[in-house]
Amino acid sequence: MSFTIVEQARARLNRSELAVPGSNYRFIEKAAEAPADVVFLDLEDAVAPDDKAQARKNIIRALNEVDFGKKTVSVRINGLDTHYMYRDVVDLIEQGGERLDLIMVPKVGTVADVYAVDMLVTQVEDAVGRKKRLGFEHIIETALGMSNVDAIAHASKRNESLHFGVADYAASTRARTTNIGGPNPLYGVLTDADEQGDRDYHWGDMWHYAIARMVVAARAAGLRPVDGPFGDIQDQEGYKAQARRAAVLGCEGKWAIHPTQIDLANELFAPSEAEVEKANRILEAMAQAQKEGKGAVTLDGRLIDIASIKQAEVLVEKAKAIAD
Ligand code: GLV
Ligand code: MG
Repeated sequence: MSFTIVEQARARLNRSELAVPGSNYRFIEKAAEAPADVVFLDLEDAVAPDDKAQARKNIIRALNEVDFGKKTVSVRINGLDTHYMYRDVVDLIEQGGERLDLIMVPKVGTVADVYAVDMLVTQVEDAVGRKKRLGFEHIIETALGMSNVDAIAHASKRNESLHFGVADYAASTRARTTNIGGPNPLYGVLTDADEQGDRDYHWGDMWHYAIARMVVAARAAGLRPVDGPFGDIQDQEGYKAQARRAAVLGCEGKWAIHPTQIDLANELFAPSEAEVEKANRILEAMAQAQKEGKGAVTLDGRLIDIASIKQAEVLVEKAKAIAD
């Protein structure tokens, strides 16, 4: 183990993160009843410029009046390159009370961006005597942000999670797609010919590098990596396949840009019963091994060792958090 201990951000369930436009008060009220782990109320791209001021008012009213239960509540503020952002922060903290948990910062490009938001949030929190410190979720969705992702992940004690914003990322990197997430048939591999001369074409995942890169940066800083939107809301199988790929790479959860995507995310990012049972058996077998002074044993014909304990504990703890 490195002598550097990775401090973990505050633990929260983050299997599903529901995006809700702040311009629609009814949607905010409905979101409070939805089974999402996190709800983010949007002031940024889902809100037209003429609606920004009303959306801000709606969100402040909802933070004061709507019962969000045990959910984590976040607000996506406008980008640092707009003239809306300072007022988003000031009004939310001055008028939104203590219910807000997180601020989501879009299109983060550099450490200085995080520093600037941190400075502003800290000033307003201190001025109003806010008891609870707001956490940060950063959307990695530009080439600049991805190229600085490690430093961004470490840039503030408020940081809790990194999110892959596939739509803006595609635009920023000039990727050849107009879809929001999911695979692209142009990104494939043509196999060599087999003995009959036949060749196969396999689709690849054009987002693999970006998500894996963000996961490493997030985990090395003790943050939650979260996969962003999947635009085709009719295509539940496509959503599930993308969510599974993200989960396999280490993501904690995925955005739901429509309520129908919430249950899919909750299911896909929860360990299955079989996984939890296996994890418990690993923990029992390792406890027994340690009593007998052994570092490694075999279980079901496979070697397990001290590292297996950590893997198993992650699954068991997640299952407990979901059951609570
Ligand atoms: C999210 O904000 C995205 O751009 O995908
Ligand atoms: Mg975006």
